[in-house]
Amino acid sequence: MLIVGCGYVGQRVAARAQQEGIAVSGVVRSKVSAARLAELGIDSLCVDLEHQRLPAGSTRDEDVFYFAPPPPEGEHDTGMQRFLEGLAQSGQPRRILYVSTTGVYGDCHGEWVDETRPAHPQVDRARRRWHAEQLLRGWRDASGGELVILRVAGIYGPGRLPLARLKKNLPMVAEADAPWTNRIHVDDLVETCLRGMQRGVDGEVYNACDGHPGNMTDYFNRVADFAGLPRPPLVDLDQAGATLSPGMLSYLAESRRLSNRKLREQLGVVLRYPTLDEGLPACFDGS
Ligand SMILES: NC(=O)c1ccc[n+]([C@@H]2O[C@H](COP(=O)([O-])OP(=O)(O)OC[C@H]3O[C@@H](n4cnc5c(N)ncnc54)[C@H](OP(=O)(O)O)[C@@H]3O)[C@@H](O)[C@H]2O)c1
Repeated sequence: MLIVGCGYVGQRVAARAQQEGIAVSGVVRSKVSAARLAELGIDSLCVDLEHQRLPAGSTRDEDVFYFAPPPPEGEHDTGMQRFLEGLAQSGQPRRILYVSTTGVYGDCHGEWVDETRPAHPQVDRARRRWHAEQLLRGWRDASGGELVILRVAGIYGPGRLPLARLKKNLPMVAEADAPWTNRIHVDDLVETCLRGMQRGVDGEVYNACDGHPGNMTDYFNRVADFAGLPRPPLVDLDQAGATLSPGMLSYLAESRRLSNRKLREQLGVVLRYPTLDEGLPACFDGS
């Protein structure tokens, strides 16, 4: 098994696979990250997907998890493009599981969204993901390799909470103005990735979320309460434009409630943390 982009999620997928006796290699870009993989007992390949190709044979007949993010700018995932072109040399995988994002649906005005909803990416961050999905579909059609796409909501877990933001006391919009957002605990995402690789239907898309959407302000408030930090100061929508970062404003401009029915019914995932009530304590007590 090969994990392309072996960071926060990838290292956890690798650990689970190793427990089951599966040999795992991870692709990272930096030497620091390669050293971290070595500490964890994961074989590493240090390759910048934007500029280099994977070694000959490294992907042949493999189960490939693709977790590397697109580049930070533009409408295209040039790393994915290079990776797929390089498969002629590195070998055709048996299956690729790609972690996309729910941003490809665009703003859905708070409606419930399942996988039949047409993609409508509205910002470049989401257009890059949509581009990657299209490239992968092209690869599947041309090569006969198998493809499963997960559209993943906001990932939270131990070491992955907005504590730095809270410590800076940065403002948020009032709850009444906050859009619907969706989350998944990293442990449930890891389980979803492994199930998607094992039993996801070739060519299918699955939303990966806990199925209990909330609003972003409530999320920040709850994390603050758990961490013993002050809740963020609230601003109204008029003030938000002047006080929040462009990145945060782009998240606040989209509202969706995501269904995870397909994940539960077709992949058979039983979520350990279906709501923040279960998931947030687990981020603090190490369970
Ligand atoms: N955060 C969220 O809420 C969220 C939601 C939905 C989807 N996602 C996506 O889920 C995926 C996994 O997330 P994560 O938290 O595990 O990410 P992460 O911890 O940032 O790990 C990303 C990994 O990709 C590698 N990488 C990045 N660019 C690369 C390149 N050009 N060439 C080779 N390797 C490269 C990194 O290597 P280096 O460490 O060496 O740079 C790192 O190992 C990402 O694509 C992320 O965007 C995240």
